[in-house]
Amino acid sequence: MPYKLIDAPLLTADQIRTRVYELAQAVESTTSEPLHLIAVLKGSIVFLADLIRAMRGPITLDFLAVSSYDANLSSGTVQLLKDIDTDIKDQSVVIIEDIVDTGLTLEYVQTLLRSKKPKTLQSVCLLSKPSRRQTKVAVDHVGFEIEDHFVVGYGLDYEQQYRHLPHISIVEVTSEQ
Ligand code: IMP
Repeated sequence: MPYKLIDAPLLTADQIRTRVYELAQAVESTTSEPLHLIAVLKGSIVFLADLIRAMRGPITLDFLAVSSYDANLSSGTVQLLKDIDTDIKDQSVVIIEDIVDTGLTLEYVQTLLRSKKPKTLQSVCLLSKPSRRQTKVAVDHVGFEIEDHFVVGYGLDYEQQYRHLPHISIVEVTSEQ
């Protein structure tokens, strides 16, 4: 599908840095230590890397992977590709997610992890598109609420491209060549 990357960032690297620092403080002040962070691959890796370096700790990490997003459309079904490796029973668990769109992925991940009986389960997402929500999933900490745009950079991809950008930009998918 032809697309265009909009030059001007939607969110600059400076804006992201400031907000990620605030999120790190907010997560640590509302959850009892030690924290066990579970990042949803792959989009959350850059966010996770910056978030943990703004935390005091102690923290431990794990990862899970769910079915990848199909281009710029949510398929509506979520599949587990990789489960966590650690036992989270009675732990203070925090889900790290890049973006909440329809909410189906986060809802799936929360249900999966809740079944493993953590002491507490919080969710922190860098971005949220409230107008796209299809479920009433709870997100404890949101970095930025954005309009209904497809965005890339800072870990987020369009067809696996642009994850390396230090800022977040809009991709416009067009039907014209
Ligand atoms: P949801 O299940 O519809 O909430 O979608 C969640 C997943 O879709 C995210 O973890 C992303 O991988 C992907 N996604 C949703 N919106 C975007 C976007 O604007 N850019 C890149 N990936 C997105």
